[in-house]
Amino acid sequence: MLPSLPIPNNLLTLLLLPISLSLVYFLKRSISPSPNDLHRIPPAHPLAPYTPLWISSIRWQSRENATLSAAHARLGPVIRLAPREISVNCVIGGIREVYGGGFEKGERGGKGYNWYGFFENFGGVPNMFSTPDNKTHSTRKRMLSNIYSKSVVLSHPALREQVSTILYTRFLPYLAATFSKAEKPGVLNIYELLSATTLDIVTGYVFGLASGTDMISDPKTLAHYLHLYTSRGAYTFWPQEYPGFTYALERWLGYRFVPKWVDDANAEIYEWVMGMCDSAAQVLRKGEWSLEDTPVVYQQLSQALDKEAKKKGDDAGDRRVGIASEFLDQVTAGFDTSGITLTYVVHELSKHPDLQSKLREELLGLTPPVRPSSAPSLPDPRAVDALPLLHAVIWETLRLHAAIPGPQPRFTPPSGCRLGPEKSYYIPGGVRVSASAGLLHMNDEVYDNPGEWRPERWLEDVSEEKKRNMESRWFWAFGSGGRMCIGSHLAVYQMKFIVAALYSNYTTAIIDDTGIEQVDGYTAPPSNEELLIQLQRVKTG
Ligand code: HEM
Ligand SMILES: *[C@@H]1O[C@H](CO)[C@@H](O)[C@H](O)[C@H]1NC(C)=O
Ligand SMILES: *[C@@H]1O[C@H](CO)[C@@H](O)[C@H](O)[C@H]1NC(C)=O
Ligand SMILES: *[C@@H]1O[C@H](CO)[C@@H](O)[C@H](O)[C@H]1NC(C)=O
Repeated sequence: MLPSLPIPNNLLTLLLLPISLSLVYFLKRSISPSPNDLHRIPPAHPLAPYTPLWISSIRWQSRENATLSAAHARLGPVIRLAPREISVNCVIGGIREVYGGGFEKGERGGKGYNWYGFFENFGGVPNMFSTPDNKTHSTRKRMLSNIYSKSVVLSHPALREQVSTILYTRFLPYLAATFSKAEKPGVLNIYELLSATTLDIVTGYVFGLASGTDMISDPKTLAHYLHLYTSRGAYTFWPQEYPGFTYALERWLGYRFVPKWVDDANAEIYEWVMGMCDSAAQVLRKGEWSLEDTPVVYQQLSQALDKEAKKKGDDAGDRRVGIASEFLDQVTAGFDTSGITLTYVVHELSKHPDLQSKLREELLGLTPPVRPSSAPSLPDPRAVDALPLLHAVIWETLRLHAAIPGPQPRFTPPSGCRLGPEKSYYIPGGVRVSASAGLLHMNDEVYDNPGEWRPERWLEDVSEEKKRNMESRWFWAFGSGGRMCIGSHLAVYQMKFIVAALYSNYTTAIIDDTGIEQVDGYTAPPSNEELLIQLQRVKTG
């Protein structure tokens, strides 16, 4: 590896960025002369029609949500961010066309620049999430969608066993043990515990309990991996926005935007996930395992890949790395987002003790309720799913504190398209376009007083039209269309069970919520990665 040049990042940026970007823009511009309506779209900044520099600098400073939010409020649902980039904040002529219409993640029909290429693992091995074109993508998604479907998740016997073991032998004992601490009994950083629990459940379903993590019982390892995982977050801008430039600079000048230790952190994460994959493979080779050790998703994918290879007449080959890249993505996509959402559930419920009591009343009506004396039996997942207040609490939190509130970029198809609420803009092919859950969810015509956390809004009697707008058209926590979150049902399942286990037994109050605001990014954890709460045992009546 070449050493980093001793030049501060911002100085080099100042010198190189304007020159290279203007050059790239000039070259691109000269090969795409088709007449279009981009010039009629209100620019978010006077420089936006002329250079991508403005939006790049906003992204570099992590001010995209705040900036787009203000710009849409001022200029309407379609705005221009750069010569060849727009942002949409509407359903008709917006997310319905772009995401419902299967616009691809990769530029030029899935062949050019791809913002999601950054999520490839093991040095450029793609996975479902990172795939640029919708043909390759749908082949993979077809292999997995059944195992993550609502009906399979709600009735899978292995998942129910896995969640039972995790809640009764790890989660609830962990909560009980916080009271025997000498200092501040009952006080804990709930963000950490919730992340550990969702990581255990997701790796449990994917790899089986024997091969998955046990982070609740091992806070040291958890802290280690969380640190590896989150500390890389500060270095996403260059490889994500300017991958070619970043690569060339390192290759030819030896200058690294991303420090070497980030590569080392990735290498360690790769090894960790590879270990879980190998362990699941070994369980399957043994040919015999207990229900909770079933590597449900791993088994499904490896069998589907075998079948595909046989059909094509390929020899099996080494799929170890491809599978590991897929599951590394699913594990990180699956635990962090649910952990973030649950942290805001706890934060909001701690501010609303009345609602906490009402929720507890609802939860204790389950048969059996999720409390220590019921172990190891869990109530029917369908009964948990059907609890109205629990559902409203989760949905309201997904709305106001979307874990992925940031823009989800796509490219317009090569033949161009029409966008805008009246479809009045003709947009040529290869234009970057995105919408953001964080902005869609703040529409006050759909969600009254959108800044307020009010689960009751999901329980009120409203017109069918309003209901449809709230529940499906504008609700975008999991995205929409062909590339919508594949894990949404698993996410909701685990979140509802974890809330049930926590609030059937305990009340929560805030001790310290400094830095609870979400970071301004694609994924948005609390800025401090911490929420200190005081647990209190519920007195049984
Ligand atoms: C509250 C929890 C979750 C939230 C808010 C969430 C949100 C999202 C969103 C918004 C997308 C679309 C992103 C884009 O196109 O830029 C997505 C995709 C995805 N999510 Fe989730 N997710 C959650 C939980 C999970 C879980 C538990 C899994 C576990 C398997 C998972 C796996 C994935 C995968 C694999 C994709 C890519 C799908 C594709 O490209 O077809 N997510 N998620
Ligand atoms: C995005 O910005 C708006 C306006 O400043 C703010 O109300 C909202 O909370 C922000 N969302 C996130 C997820 O930070
Ligand atoms: C795939 O992408 C192309 C162009 O980007 C689009 O026209 C097509 O409808 C998409 N297919 C599906 C199934 O979404
Ligand atoms: C919660 O758990 C404790 C044991 O840790 C138990 O004594 C208590 O009765 C439980 N609360 C309820 C409401 O079941």
